[in-house]
Amino acid sequence: MKGIILAGGKGTRLYPSTKVISKQLLPVFDKPMIYYPIATLMLGGIREIIIISTPDDIVFYQELLGNGSQWGLSFSYVIQEKPLGIAQAFVLTREFFSNEKVCLILGDNIFYGKLDFFRNAIKNLKFATIFAYEVENPQDYGVVVLDKDKKPIEIVEKPKSFISKYAIPGLYLFDERVFDFALTLKPSARGELEITDIQKIYLQLNELNIEIIGRGIAWLDTGNPTNLIDAALFIRAIEQRQGRKIACLEEIALTLGYINRKEFVAWVEKMPNSDYKKYCLKILGELDG
Ligand code: TTP
Repeated sequence: MKGIILAGGKGTRLYPSTKVISKQLLPVFDKPMIYYPIATLMLGGIREIIIISTPDDIVFYQELLGNGSQWGLSFSYVIQEKPLGIAQAFVLTREFFSNEKVCLILGDNIFYGKLDFFRNAIKNLKFATIFAYEVENPQDYGVVVLDKDKKPIEIVEKPKSFISKYAIPGLYLFDERVFDFALTLKPSARGELEITDIQKIYLQLNELNIEIIGRGIAWLDTGNPTNLIDAALFIRAIEQRQGRKIACLEEIALTLGYINRKEFVAWVEKMPNSDYKKYCLKILGELDG
């Protein structure tokens, strides 16, 4: 399975911070926002990743992340000329996939906690799996209405009135048909290829699985200034309490065996003096006992 990180968009809710810089390059406490979705994919065992961003921003992602080999990953880069919707990701990347399943994650979505829900969903994927997460403000998201057996009945993008407490996080698993389904979509009233329309296709086929993510997992969104600072403070609180970093890609790569000790050291030595480097050296110290 390959992964796609969608890191374009307009970022209007974060204006003026996003006037000249892409939202997913902004820091969430001590690292760029895009590190978090990369970490999520890595922890799900996904190592081939396609990063989509705008014509202006793609070079910054390439400079920041390179080809991914420093973390035992492989990155490809694809430009989205205009933010014409989340589902356009599948139209733009179809040539990278040959009869393969795909995981799409939005570049501004952060997951924290034991990611077994994600690994299990990947392992058991048949057709399509999306997630449901209880939130206070479901009207700000795509939401899913579930029946008493927790089966999906309806999916609605940003419902005007309350229909369900379950928002759909920006993490989606689809089988290889999604690339053909995406080609059949028509732009919505707001001119976008909607990810909810893809989900509705699977729903109509009775092939949409919903996994409820419990409250033991934190799902954070960073799309507006308040959410962004809340996410940063959350990350800081956990990191300071434990002395462990969240989404330190070098640590994850080493722990999962994507890179070996020698590769880790070579990469860390190139880092400028920083808390981040200090942390990587601490990881090394622990490894060496
Ligand atoms: P949104 O938060 O819906 O949109 P945005 O990032 O443009 O922000 P705003 O609403 O403040 O203008 O996008 C969710 C994620 O998907 C975000 O990481 C950006 C990304 N995205 C794209 O890369 N391309 C797109 O066409 C769209 C709609 C979103």
